[in-house]
Amino acid sequence: MSEIEMLTAKEIEILTAFERGISISAIAENLRISRERVLEYLKSAQRKRNQILMREKGKVIPQIRAIDSSLNIVQKGTMKVGSQILKQLSEGIYTSPAGSLKELISNSYDSDATEVTIELQEDEVTIRDNGSGMDWSDFDMEFAFISRSMKRYNGEYTSRYERPIIGFIGIGFIAVSELCDTLIIKSGKKDSDIFFEAKIDFSKYRTREALDKEFYEVSEYELTNYRKEDKKIERESSFTEVKLKNLRPGFKKILRDRKPFGERKTSIEEIMRVTSERGVGVTGLGEYWQMILGLALICPVRYMRDGPVIGKQSDKTISEIKSYMESCNFRIQVDGIELVRPIKFPNTDIIFNTKSYAIHSVKETISTSEGDISFKGYIYSQHGLISPREYIGILVRVKNVGVGGFDRTLFEYPSGTNQLFRNWICGEIFIEEGLEEAMSINRNSFKITHPHYIALRNWLHNFLDKEVFKYIRTEYYLKSRKRRQERREMEYLETFDSIVKSELGKEYKFQFGVLSKDEPVRIDKKRELVIVNEIYPVFYSAPKKFENILERMFVLFEIAVEKSEGNFDRLKRTFHEEVLKWISENRDQHY
Ligand SMILES: Nc1ncnc2c1ncn2[C@@H]1O[C@H](COP(=O)(O)OP(=O)(O)O)[C@@H](O)[C@H]1O
Ligand SMILES: [Mg+2]
Repeated sequence: MSEIEMLTAKEIEILTAFERGISISAIAENLRISRERVLEYLKSAQRKRNQILMREKGKVIPQIRAIDSSLNIVQKGTMKVGSQILKQLSEGIYTSPAGSLKELISNSYDSDATEVTIELQEDEVTIRDNGSGMDWSDFDMEFAFISRSMKRYNGEYTSRYERPIIGFIGIGFIAVSELCDTLIIKSGKKDSDIFFEAKIDFSKYRTREALDKEFYEVSEYELTNYRKEDKKIERESSFTEVKLKNLRPGFKKILRDRKPFGERKTSIEEIMRVTSERGVGVTGLGEYWQMILGLALICPVRYMRDGPVIGKQSDKTISEIKSYMESCNFRIQVDGIELVRPIKFPNTDIIFNTKSYAIHSVKETISTSEGDISFKGYIYSQHGLISPREYIGILVRVKNVGVGGFDRTLFEYPSGTNQLFRNWICGEIFIEEGLEEAMSINRNSFKITHPHYIALRNWLHNFLDKEVFKYIRTEYYLKSRKRRQERREMEYLETFDSIVKSELGKEYKFQFGVLSKDEPVRIDKKRELVIVNEIYPVFYSAPKKFENILERMFVLFEIAVEKSEGNFDRLKRTFHEEVLKWISENRDQHY
C-alpha cells in the first residue's frame, strides 16, 4: 500500500467548517477563494480521511476538527486529553499495592467469579478468575476504555449471583499500571469458540517523549484472538487471566519482604496469631504479609472461624453479616493462602485477663439532601487497647469492600474527649445504600463534604457518645476503678501508710483519691495527707504488675521533693536513699 497522504491545514479547516454545517459559499467567501476551489479541497480532504480510516483499522483515530479564526459564528471544539494524564493516572492514584490489587479482585467479583487465584512471584504476578469473562469487543469497548463502565446498565446486581456490583468508575486497569509496565490479559466467554490475548505496554506512557504526544498515540494495545479448541480450552469455560510483568521496583521490593514466614505455607489464622503474640502489630510483619492481610481485610470474603466476635454469634446483626458473606461464595487464594477476613475478638490478651467486652450493633437509615444512606454493622468494645493496634477504629465497607483501613480518627471524632476509650473499640459498618458518590476515586477515603459522609459522621459521633463510650465508662472503667479501690484498700493501704508515717511524721495519713490528670501524687501538708491519684493515666493504663511499683516510685519521689526543700542535689540523694531503703526492705521477697 502507498504512503498515507496527510491532510493539509487548509483541508482540515475546510472539512471541519463543512461538517459543522457552514455552507460552501460561506466558506468560500470567508477564505476569499472560489466555490469550486472549496469543493476541490473538500473532496481531497474526504478522500485522504477515508484512506486513513481504512489503513488505520483497529487504531484510534483522532477527531478531525479544529477551531479557526472565523468571526461571529459559534464554533464547536472538543475537549482533548493529553498523554500526561495517563502518566499521572498510571502512577499515583492508589496508596498501596493492596489497594491496586483489590481493583482486580473487585472486577473478578463483579464478573460472578467464585474463585480467584493470585500468584505473587518476584517478577510476575498472575490473577486468574472463573468469572463470566470478556471477548475482544468487551475488551476493546470496556476494559480498554478508560473511565467507561457499562456494568450497571442492567441494574445494580450481577446477573448470576446477584452480588451488588462494585465497579462503576471504569479505571480499574489504571490501578494495575501502578504495579507493572506490561499487562497481559487473556479472557474468554462461555459458549464461545474463541478467546483473546491482549497486551498493554504502560512503559510507553511513562517516557519523556510520550508527554508531548497525543493521548491516542501512546495508548495502544495488541490483541490476538484464538480458537479455544486449538489451545485445549473447553468451549464451556469462561475465565479472565491478568498477568503483570516487568513489575515496578517498589512493588518488587514488597514482594520480597516476607519475614517472618518466608516461603513457608501459612494461613491467615496463623499470621494473626503471630501478630498478636509478638505484640508488634501488623506493621511488624514483612510488607508481603502486610499486603496479604490488607487484602484479606478489605476484600468481599468470609470471616475467619469464630470471627469477627467470638461467642457472641447470637448477636443478630453480626450473624446476618457473617452468613451473608458465606453466601456470596467468593474465594480468593493468594499463593495458596485462602483469604478470610482477619478479624477475631476478643483476642487472647483480653480473654487471658478475663476482662470484659461487648458488641454494640447498628442498623440505621438516614435521609439526606442527596437521598438516603443506610447501613448496618457493629462496634466491638473491650476493656483495654485493641490489638493489633491497626484495628483500632471503624472500617467502612461499601459494596462489601473496605474503604481504606480502620479509621482511627473515628471520622474526625473530636480529640481530647474520651481519648482513652477510643483505643478500645473496633467496628465495621456495611453501607447498604448511598455513600458511593462520597468515595474518592481510588475508593480509599471519603470526600468529607459529601452529605452522606456528613450524615454518617454525625450519626457515628452521636452513637459513640450515647451508646459505646457511655457503656465503656460505666461498665469497664468505673467498675474496675471500684474493684481497684477495694483491692488497694485491703492490701496496700497499710504499707503506704507506714511509709508516709515513717518519712513524714506520725500524724500523716495515706489515701487514694482523685486529683487532676497530670498530678500523680500530692502531699497535703495542711491536712497531713498523702494522696495517690487513682485516675492518673500512667497508673491507670500501666500493666498490672507495674502499677504498684509505679505508684510507690511516685510517692517516694514526692516525699524526696518535700524533704529536699528545693535543693536539687539533696533531691537526688534523698530519692536514691528512699528507693534503696525500699529495695533493701524487700530484698528477701521474690516476685
Ligand atoms: N476479571 C474480569 N472479568 C470480566 N470482565 C472484566 C474483568 N476485569 C475487567 N472487566 C471488564 O472491564 C471493564 C473495565 O474494568 P474497570 O476499569 O475496573 O471498570 P469498572 O470495574 O469500574 O467497570 C469492566 O466494566 C468489565 O466489563
Ligand atoms: Mg473495576
